[in-house]
Formats: sequence, structure tokens, C-alpha cells
Amino acid sequence: MGSLFLALVLLLHLSWSFSSTHLCLPHQRAALLQFKSSISIYDCYLEYYKTESWNRSIDCCSWEGIKCDELTGHVIGIDLSNSCLSGFLFANNSLFRLHTLQWLDLSLNNLNGSPLENTSSLFHFHGLRRLNLAFNDFHGRISSELFSQLVSLTHLNLSVNAFSGLIPHQISLLSSLVSLDLSLYSESTTLTFDGRGFDKLARNLTKLRHLVLDTIVMSDVALTSFLNLSSSLQRLSLSHCQLHGEFPSQLFHLPNLKHINLGLNENLRGYLPKTNWGSGLKLLDLAYCGGFRGPIPSSFGNLTQIISIDLSGNLFEGQIPDVLGNLTKLTTLDLSYNHFHGRMDQIQMPSSIQYVNLSFNDFHGPLPDYIFDLVSLTSLFLSSNNLSSVVESDMLSKLTSLEDLDLSNNNLLSLSTGDKDVNHSFPQLRSVSFSSCSVRQFPHFFRTSKLEYLDLSNNMISGGISKREAEGWESLQELYLSNNSLTSFEQFPGQSLLTLDLRSNLLEGPILSTCLNLQIPIPALLQEFLISNNKLTGNVPSSICNWTSLQILDLSRNSLSGTIPECLGNFSQNLLIMDLQMNNLSGKIPDSFLNNVLINLYLNDNRLEGLVPPSLANSTSLEILNLGNNMLTDRFPHWLASLPNLQILILRCNRFHGPLPHSVAASNVSILRMIDLSGNVFSGPLHTKLFQDLRAMRESPRWRLLSPDDRAYYNSEDYHTSVNVTTKRLELELTKTIDIFVSMDLSNNKFSGQIPEEVGQLIYLQMLNISHNNFTGPIPASFGNLVALESLDLSSNKFNGRIPSQMLKLTFLAVLNLSENDLVGQIPYGNQFNTFDNDSYSGNLGLCGLPLSKQCNNHGEAKPPAPSVAEHEDSQVPVFWQVVMMGYASGVVLGLSLGYIVFTTGRPWWLVRMVERDLQYKFTAWIKRKRPKRN
Ligand SMILES: *[C@@H]1O[C@H](CO)[C@@H](O)[C@H](O)[C@H]1NC(C)=O
Ligand SMILES: *[C@@H]1O[C@H](CO)[C@@H](O)[C@H](O)[C@H]1NC(C)=O
Ligand SMILES: *[C@@H]1O[C@H](CO)[C@@H](O)[C@H](O)[C@H]1NC(C)=O
Ligand SMILES: *[C@@H]1O[C@H](CO)[C@@H](O)[C@H](O)[C@H]1NC(C)=O
Ligand SMILES: *[C@@H]1O[C@H](CO)[C@@H](O)[C@H](O)[C@H]1NC(C)=O
Ligand SMILES: *[C@@H]1O[C@H](CO)[C@@H](O)[C@H](O)[C@H]1NC(C)=O
Repeated sequence: MGSLFLALVLLLHLSWSFSSTHLCLPHQRAALLQFKSSISIYDCYLEYYKTESWNRSIDCCSWEGIKCDELTGHVIGIDLSNSCLSGFLFANNSLFRLHTLQWLDLSLNNLNGSPLENTSSLFHFHGLRRLNLAFNDFHGRISSELFSQLVSLTHLNLSVNAFSGLIPHQISLLSSLVSLDLSLYSESTTLTFDGRGFDKLARNLTKLRHLVLDTIVMSDVALTSFLNLSSSLQRLSLSHCQLHGEFPSQLFHLPNLKHINLGLNENLRGYLPKTNWGSGLKLLDLAYCGGFRGPIPSSFGNLTQIISIDLSGNLFEGQIPDVLGNLTKLTTLDLSYNHFHGRMDQIQMPSSIQYVNLSFNDFHGPLPDYIFDLVSLTSLFLSSNNLSSVVESDMLSKLTSLEDLDLSNNNLLSLSTGDKDVNHSFPQLRSVSFSSCSVRQFPHFFRTSKLEYLDLSNNMISGGISKREAEGWESLQELYLSNNSLTSFEQFPGQSLLTLDLRSNLLEGPILSTCLNLQIPIPALLQEFLISNNKLTGNVPSSICNWTSLQILDLSRNSLSGTIPECLGNFSQNLLIMDLQMNNLSGKIPDSFLNNVLINLYLNDNRLEGLVPPSLANSTSLEILNLGNNMLTDRFPHWLASLPNLQILILRCNRFHGPLPHSVAASNVSILRMIDLSGNVFSGPLHTKLFQDLRAMRESPRWRLLSPDDRAYYNSEDYHTSVNVTTKRLELELTKTIDIFVSMDLSNNKFSGQIPEEVGQLIYLQMLNISHNNFTGPIPASFGNLVALESLDLSSNKFNGRIPSQMLKLTFLAVLNLSENDLVGQIPYGNQFNTFDNDSYSGNLGLCGLPLSKQCNNHGEAKPPAPSVAEHEDSQVPVFWQVVMMGYASGVVLGLSLGYIVFTTGRPWWLVRMVERDLQYKFTAWIKRKRPKRN
């Protein structure tokens, strides 16, 4: 929201210079001093603040920030913006006695309203000894006295303070107001206009020229109220106000309008009028409203004063009229995320233009020549269109002001390979993105001293990057080259590099060899090194341990061999993710783990031997530990219980042996929710307490939502966590759903004994596989409580008795395998059981009834009366699950994969998380919108 920040910056720099020779009136001086004593100065970063000069020895008309009337000596102006003021403006504040005040600017402070204005009876409560209003998040309303007393005000600015709540209707008494700014820009409080309050304001403030209400909640305000605003209006700024509905386009006709900002009102609709624009318009911002539609009218050609147009994130369509070139003052143009189409070379741009964003539309054709003549251009974003061109360095040679260039996702666009020696300079260039185009060669010509960000991922760059090409990138911080066909990479480009992404190329040989010379110089600042899915061979060199700033080390999916260097367990105190999976590493896992910020450790699919190193117990942040598919020969590492954040534990296909401990949690807080111990030689029974301790499988995981550790890895744009799980007879790679999947796989071991009834407490389980063991006894009826199950495999054990009819309640069950047991009697029928075929039951000689061809006899095994869910049984299914199932039946939750619907008694936690992520996304998008985005 460029204009939003612009407004803030303007606010910061706005100050009046007052001077006066008249002596001030004693009662007004008293009121000012009393006001000064009613507020305090909070941790002030300013070297000096205005109220310092407020003392009796100086005439108050000479005080900093005070202006008096030349003739009468009345105080008519107060400017205390950005003065570190803190405190409550109660209804009786002496400030409100300055009835002659015309200008009042208290913006950019920490002033609070009157929290108790409507509960003043509190003060009469005789038992009350002490009332502490000092803590920061106590917010109060703007006192109505401010509006009912200071009726001479023409300029009022209270923006960026700590006021909250409903804006009192008395604001409409300020009928002389010319300029009003109440914008809040706060994440922690909200100020609200109700519909009636705003309507009165619009009708009574007939002199208004500037109305700035950004971030004030106005969801209750009827959009027609705006039609009553004065025709003198010059500036209307209503971004992020929760306005919704059809915006009356008559407002665009207001004759004096210069500045209109309706951005980030996410449900605001409307269209641009065909005629009659106020010709003085300088700024038009409708960004991310989502609902403005129709074409850009050719009458735009009359907006000769316009400087900035932002229509991004709407439903605009059609071609861009050829009048843009006439808007000779235009410097910002953002039409991204719409449905515009047409040939790129038919769009005109004035030579004044500095910022152009046409990304995420449907423009096609070659880049027009005139673009390369726009000498003022600083930012050019054309990503995700259908543009075709070969961009050559000399084409760009005039764009010496260019800072950001994003042409990514135009798959017919490439960079020229010729002209190697032409040395153009782009002295301002900071960021270049050519991801997902048709680039065939590493472009040497962007080598400039300021370049920080270069994204050439998903192209066809082949061959090597020579030492010479990698030189001269002094400022480069992020380099993305994944998904190309690079065969060598001789040197780190520059000493400032933070991220190097070489995933999915054809790099071969040892990591630190001549064709992949990453050794000299040591990349001291590097935080993310991603080189998975290449053809690397040789050792993991111990010199990597000198890269002490690393946060993400991803060497997975190569052919690295040898042992893991001992130092790797403890080389970077910042390491969050270590991924060495799918190599040929052998020997022991180093027992040197000290780092307590490590979140993910992947060593799976190697040839590692020996024990799970006990020092891993130091990695108390660990959430995912994957040691699967190795040759480890340990007993179950019971000390894993002391890792309070461990959620996913994969030990599958090793040589783990012996019994499981009675408990896997040191206390009752185990948050393990994916356990895969399959393919080992674990033995012995499963203890009752084991099931009781697996709290994350039993209780709503909602409490995990705000874990800062979650944040850490969700915020890594570059590395996406995944693990594989075998469910529904398929090996699935969980990526997006990894943080909500709940599963237990104990298959292919030597477990024995009966399954305790307590298994029925793990009601969030989506997959349970205990096949290929020696379990005996009946299938517990409590299986019927595992209503989230989508896949259940009990095959190849020695279960006997009947299939409990309670299992009819498992309405999400897609795959059931009970084969190769000693089960007998009638197979339940109804619900999901009607969908399973013979294979689910084969190898149980005593089973009968559909889908088997073997009929049940009338004797011991009579056909039950009616197929139905066991409705009358004493259901142990928790109420919220029944709600889920009802919701499902009524179609309310359709469209979501059933396995991921987990309700709590309050809000569904997945919804909370989705909304939260969405908000986070939007917030980030808002902040970063002007930066190129990688795909
Ligand atoms: C409008 O302003 C006038 C003059 O200040 C005042 O008398 C009147 O009460 C106001 N009307 C409303 C609805 O606030
Ligand atoms: C543009 O302005 C001219 C004169 O100022 C006016 O005659 C014309 O109708 C306007 N065009 C449109 C499309 O509004
Ligand atoms: C744009 O300017 C050209 C001349 O510079 C003029 O002929 C044309 O009418 C203008 N178009 C509009 C829509 O104002
Ligand atoms: C790591 O750095 C140290 C000191 O800077 C140096 O002596 C050592 O040789 C380096 N190790 C490797 C393996 O490069
Ligand atoms: C790390 O683990 C080792 C081995 O378990 C242990 O001796 C050491 O005390 C631990 N260090 C810290 C800092 O916890
Ligand atoms: C996970 O499964 C996917 C396919 O489902 C496969 O491509 C990938 O290699 C598997 N990962 C591991 C570590 O086995």
C-alpha cells in the first residue's frame, strides 16, 4: 500500500511553524499546563520533545507547538504530533476547555481515550482502593467532550494513537472541520464508525476537504452515506476500513477530488465511470478490493494530473486504452492481479513512469521497444503473462534507474546469449527475477555492484558457471538457480550471499571439487544452502562445519557417501533444518548434537548403522526426526520422550529391536502425532499407558497453533518440509498437510499380545497400521471410536472373534484390511462396509456374509435385522465428532478433505490456522507487494 505508507511518511514530516508576539491568556495557559501534567512522556527516542518548552517563565504563545491569534491572543493551534505523549484523555481534560482551538494535531503519540466513560460508576465503588490504568493494552474511546467542546476546530488529527472503540456521534458537531484524520494503523486496537455516526458526519461536515480514516472499522457504514460528503472534498482515504458492497461511482465525479484511496477493503465492488472524472485527480488506489470490474475507460485520458494509479487485485478486464501515454505526470502504475489482456506493444506509457506492475494478467506479444526507452523506470514487473521476447543487454542499457525487474513466468521469454563482452551497467539494480522463462545461459550482464536478488530458477540454463562469471557480485544475497541443467558451479558468487539454491540440477562430483568449488572463499554469511536432487558424490566435507551461519542445509537426494563428519552435529548454533536424506551415507550418526534450535533432522534412506545418538536429547526444538530406511540397530531410544516438541518420529525399516517402553512421554505432554516404527524387529506387547500418553492423538491439537517453532519453518519460503506416509495402500508424500496428519504405523514387527481397549482413545488417528505382527485376541470394540480413520490395516496377525459392529461408525474409512487373521462370524454391513471387497477379509476362514460369497448359516450366525449404524448403543463418540459427521452429511463441510477436518468444541482449529495463514499471507503480500515474487 504505497500510498498508505506515503501518508504515514507525510504525517511524520508535517509540522507547522508558528510564531506569535501576543501574550497568552492566563486561563488558557493554566489549561495547557494542566493538560501537560495529565499526560506523560514515554520512552522517548527523540532528543527533545515539544512540551519541554512549556513552562510559566515563557509566554505560552511562544511555546513549541502553540499558535495564538494575533489579535485576541487566544490559543488557536496546537501541534503536538510525534511528541512521545502517553496517557488518557478523560472527559474532564483541561484541553477541552480551549474552545477557541482551530487546529489540533496529536498524531503519532500513545494517547488513549477514556476507558471508563460509560462505566463511571466504578469511581463510586467504595471498596475500590487502587485502580491501575497504567498498562499498555488498556484502550479507551475518544472522549465525546473533545467533539462537543472544541466546536471551532477546522483541522483535527488524532491519527496513530491508542484510541479504540466507537467514535462518538458528537463528532458531527464539528461542522467547521476542513481536515479530519483519525487513521489508526494499529494491529492491537480498533476504532469503529457505526453507520449512523458516519452518516451524521457526512451530512453535517459540509466544509470537509480532507477525510482520512484508514484502518478504521466501517463495516457498518452504508456506502450511500458517502454521497452526502461535501463537494469540496479533495482527499478521501479509506484504506483497510472493511467497507463492503457496491461503491457509488458518483464519488469519482466530485469536482475537487485529488486523492482517493479505497485499497484493501476486501469486499468492495464497483466500476470506473466512463465520463466526468474530476480532472484534478492525482492519486487513485483501489488495490486488493477484489471486486472492482469492467474496463479502464478511455476518459482516463483526461486525468492529466494523475501521478499514481493502483488497480491491482481486482476483476478489471479488457484492453488498456491507448490514452495512458498522455498521462504525462504518471509515475506509478499498478494493474497487477486482474484480467486485462491484449498485446503488450499496444500499451502506451508516458516517459514520466517510474513504477510499472502488470503482473498476473493476460498480456501477450513481444516487449515493446518504447519500454526500453523509459529512462525514469525504477521497477518493472511483468511476471505471469504470456510475453515473448529475447531480452538483450543493450536493450536495457538506457534503463539506468532500474532497481527491480521481474519478468518471471513468461515461458516464451528468454535472455540473449550473444554479446558476451558488452558491459552495460545498471547502477541501481537490486533485484532481477527471470524464473520460469526460457533462459538458456547464465546472464553475465546483470552483474552490478548493487544486485541483491537474482532468480533464474526453472529455466534451461545448461553447462557450468565459471569462476569468472561468479565474480563481481559483491552485494548478491539470494541466488536461485534450481530446476536448470547446470553441470558445474565453480565459486560462490560474492561474500554477501545468504541463500544459494541449486536444487534439481545436474551437478556432479564431490561437493568441494573443482567443478563445484564452494570452498574458497568460505561463505561466512550463508544461511540457506540447498543442493538436493543433483548427482553429487564423495563425502560430506567437514569444512562445511566452517559455515557457521547456516540455518538450512539440504544435501538430500544425491549420491553422497562416507561417514557424516562428527562436527556436523554442532557447527551452527542457527541450524534449523538438516536434510541429508536419500544418499549413501554410512557409519554412525555423530553423537555431537548440542544445537537446541534444530527443528527438522532428516537422515533417512542412507546406510547408517549403530545407535541413535543420545546427544540428540539436546535438540529440544526437534519436531521432525526421520531416521527411516537405514541399518540402525538400537533399542527404542526411550530418551526421545524428553524432546517436548517432537511431533513426527520415523524409524521405519531399520533393525530396532526389543520392547517399546511402557510410556513414550516423560510427562503427559507428548505431542507425537505421526509414529512410524514399521519394518523393524520390535517385540512384546503394547502397554495401556502408551496409548494414554499420546496426547496429540487424543486431544485437539489446537493448542499448538501459535507455537513459535511452527512459525520458524513455515516462514521459510525456500524449504518445504515433507515426509512420506503409507496410507490407503499408497505411499504418499505429505507436504501441505504435514502439520495436521495423525498416524501410527507399527507394521512388520514382532509385537504380540492383545490390543488394549485404550487404543480407542486415539480419536484423531487418520491412519493405523499394525499389520504383520503377532497380535492376538479380539479386535477391541473401542476401534469404533476412531472415527477419523481413513485407513486401517490389522492384517496378518492372530486376531480372533467377530468384527465389532461398532466399526460401522468409521464413516471416513476408505481402506480396511483384516485379511490373514482368525476372525469369525458375520461381516458387519452398512456404511463404509458396503464399499470393501473380498481382499479386506481374505484368509479368515470363519468369516461369512457379503462381500464374501460364503453365506452365513441361520444357526450361530444369523443375518442381523437391518443394516444401520449402531445408533442405540451407548456411543462413546465425542459430541464434536458427531457434529462433524452431521456437518458432513448436510454438506456443510464439503470441499475439504475429510481426513483433515478436526473440530474442537470451539472454532475448528484447522479453520483458525487457515485464516491465520491467510492473514499472514495477505499481510506479507501487502508489505512485499512491490517486490518481485518467486514461484
Ligand atoms: C450539525 O452542526 C450544527 C452546527 O455545529 C449543530 O448545531 C448540529 O447539532 C449538528 N447536527 C448534528 C446532527 O450533529
Ligand atoms: C475530457 O475532457 C474534455 C474537456 O475537458 C471533455 O470535453 C470530454 O468529454 C472529456 N472526455 C471524457 C471521456 O470524459
Ligand atoms: C493524447 O495526446 C494526443 C497528442 O499528444 C492527442 O492527439 C490525443 O487526442 C490525446 N488523447 C486523449 C484521449 O486525450
Ligand atoms: C575451518 O576454518 C579454520 C579456521 O578458519 C581453518 O583452520 C580450517 O582449515 C577450516 N577447515 C576446513 C575444513 O576448511
Ligand atoms: C548433550 O548431550 C550429552 C549426551 O547426552 C550430554 O552429556 C550433555 O550434557 C548434553 N549437553 C547439553 C548442553 O545439554
Ligand atoms: C516419497 O514418496 C514420493 C512419491 O510418493 C517419492 O517420489 C519420494 O522419493 C519418497 N521419498 C522418500 C524419502 O522415500
